[in-house]
Amino acid sequence: MDENKTPVIIGSDHAAYCLKEKIKACLMEKRGVEVEDAGTHSEDSVDYPDFGIRVADSVSTGKFGRGILLCGTGIGMSMVANRFPYIRAALCNDLFSAIMSRKHNNANVLVMGGRVIGDVLAEGILNAWLDTPFEGGRHQLRLEKFDRIG
Ligand code: RB5
Repeated sequence: MDENKTPVIIGSDHAAYCLKEKIKACLMEKRGVEVEDAGTHSEDSVDYPDFGIRVADSVSTGKFGRGILLCGTGIGMSMVANRFPYIRAALCNDLFSAIMSRKHNNANVLVMGGRVIGDVLAEGILNAWLDTPFEGGRHQLRLEKFDRIG
């Protein structure tokens, strides 16, 4: 499968529910990517770890190749996701970080903060993140050191 068309699992809390709906539309309507929505499904207050866990677990166990997590700042979701094995979640509220998180870190979960960035920037970050390949080489060797952490 074209890597850019890899199905994606997405989750957010209430603070980024509106952004989640916009990112879902970009993925499905503009990019033709299949999306699994792990919730939340409204702006009613929820606990972000519940949704971060669903997405991170699905990527960690190989059910999905890529995940997207959104909360107010993106900080809580990235903390949750990075506790799972094989998760490389990158909090990217700017374009440069999004590109580098793919090139150097082979990030498999993109995290953004719905209270930090606007919808237009978020879409740009999403597209840059999906379209930038991992460079491998010395960066692969560095990532392999993650697996030696007890
Ligand atoms: C929710 O109020 C907020 O704490 C959450 O969205 C997130 O920013 C946590 O890191």
